[in-house]
Amino acid sequence: MENFRFYSPTEFVFGRQAEREVGKLLQKHKATRVLVHFGGGSIIQSGLLGRVESAMKDAGVYYVLFGGAVPNPRSGLVYQGIELARAEQIDFVLAVGGGSAIDSAKAIALGAAYPGDFWDLYDGKAKIVAALPVGVVLTIPAAGSEASASAVITHEKGMLKRGVLSDFNRPKFAIINPELTYTLPPYQTAAGVTDMMAHIFERYLTPSKHVELTDQLCEATLRAIVGAARIAIREPLNYEARATICWAGTIAHNGSLGVGRIEDWSTHGLEHELSALYDVTHGAGLAVMFPAFMKYTVDVDVERYRRLAVNVWGVPDDPDHPKRVALAGIAAFEAFLKDIGMPTTFEGIGAKREDIETLLDKLEINRGKTLGSFMKLTRSDCRNIYLLACE
Ligand code: NZQ
Ligand code: ZN
Repeated sequence: MENFRFYSPTEFVFGRQAEREVGKLLQKHKATRVLVHFGGGSIIQSGLLGRVESAMKDAGVYYVLFGGAVPNPRSGLVYQGIELARAEQIDFVLAVGGGSAIDSAKAIALGAAYPGDFWDLYDGKAKIVAALPVGVVLTIPAAGSEASASAVITHEKGMLKRGVLSDFNRPKFAIINPELTYTLPPYQTAAGVTDMMAHIFERYLTPSKHVELTDQLCEATLRAIVGAARIAIREPLNYEARATICWAGTIAHNGSLGVGRIEDWSTHGLEHELSALYDVTHGAGLAVMFPAFMKYTVDVDVERYRRLAVNVWGVPDDPDHPKRVALAGIAAFEAFLKDIGMPTTFEGIGAKREDIETLLDKLEINRGKTLGSFMKLTRSDCRNIYLLACE
């Protein structure tokens, strides 16, 4: 096990009608002037925004509404949000929505506390030393941003999609009511499930040794997600399946499954270029890239892929043919993705083979010459993985 520091300060309020707590939680965290940030119309249509507003009014909290965050959120709205936060002397940012609204809220919170251009914090020109506090009412279990240290934004100039890591990005609280996810279209449910599984794989596929506890936690969480996802896709109003997926999405990315392990994150790097170039749903891009990454890296650690196949996908073990078992596990993962309605090839997301060199150029700008730690991927490796994803 590697040395580690684990910091997860978020207070979680989980369950039916949990959003009613938002006013009290804002008071508890000394919020007096709140910017409520959200995406498109889903929270208006579902009535959630109205309930959140009532709870804030009851608590006597002043607030300003600021919507418009799009999937793969953009810098333009962040700049507007920062201006608004300054003009309104905002002291707390409340995100109501999914990873996109949350990440946009986090970026506004960073930018409002930084005197220069917030993008300096994303391209390494300045260090994060402050941020407004952020709270979350989650509507889609997927990105794990409700507890993560990360905030991913796409800058319109060059369409550069980048994340920035800081403990300042960890929300003060996250309200998670599984009932709020009943209205998710099946595609978004499936993309969310894929994303949280990917967050676990990025940690599971590690060069670190002697990490049995987190190996088993990763495998158990993956098994629970697979079971619950099959139910939730069939029965969108199944509370227990939705609840399992919601909490799994949070623990998949709050850091607890990665402690003591060197994490990888190369598949996220490969995917972020797809969602930057084609504006595809992040989870769908991962459904395309992860099977390709796994096939390409299976020989790096056949034993690890073998235990994944046996412990998560229920592939019968065959100690004499470990690679056969490993590949059967990857095939089972791909079949699961198809079952839940995810694309698994470039074609399925409208990505084009002829754009691969552009994807690689941008990947190098964003991530440097090599990627990942499970296998250090060169440009040529990344090209091969993109090519595998075309098949
Ligand atoms: O905008 P609205 O109208 O709310 O619609 C959203 C959006 O179209 C809809 N939706 C959300 N909750 C709903 C709902 N529709 C009906 N009922 C509900 N309850 O779903 C669509 C997707 O929402 P979005 O917030 O984009 O989804 P997600 O949570 O998957 O976030 C994706 C973003 O997070 C980033 C991704 O790259 C992407 O930009 N990530 C953030 C991470 C982090 N901060 O730690 C880590 C991840 O790896 C990821 O990179
Ligand atoms: Zn992700």
